[in-house]
Amino acid sequence: MKSAMSSLAALALALTFSGAALAADWEGGDATKGAKVFKKCQACHTVEKDGPNRVGPNLYNIMDRGIATHADYNYSKGMKTFAASGAKWTEETLFQYLEKPAALVPGTNMSFAGLKKEQDRKDLLAYLETATGHQQ
Ligand code: HEC
Repeated sequence: MKSAMSSLAALALALTFSGAALAADWEGGDATKGAKVFKKCQACHTVEKDGPNRVGPNLYNIMDRGIATHADYNYSKGMKTFAASGAKWTEETLFQYLEKPAALVPGTNMSFAGLKKEQDRKDLLAYLETATGHQQ
């Protein structure tokens, strides 16, 4: 019993630590490198204010404007369902979405396999923070 208790305590401790690591995952990106990573998105997205939609919606103000809220863009049912769940675009949800879009948002039209490398996603987020006007 004693050993069961201590392994439970160890598990709780491990969970606490992985939780902390998860929260910090998207921090520590390099915006200059992120601008290069964004080249993979550019065929489908612009980031500047009042930029045009391409295959995907313009991403200006993405971290404040909410999911699937660009007025002139026709989102997939999958993305609208995700928005209706009450989710928000934050560093955390973007970090997850960009790893494998279809895993977080089933039925999304964004035909992009994802960025497997954690560092690429961190760098990209650092870029998006400034390029989309979230942090000046
Ligand atoms: C092949 C085209 C394509 C590529 C490449 C692509 N996207 Fe998308 N993206 C889309 C489409 C289409 C949507 C709309 C998805 C939907 O309605 O399901 C979208 C949606 C999004 C959204 C949600 C927008 C909103 O208004 O809620 C974000 C954020 C996003 N993309 C970021 C990125 C980033 C960052 C990259 C590069 C790592 C990227 N996308 C690469 C096509 C693409």
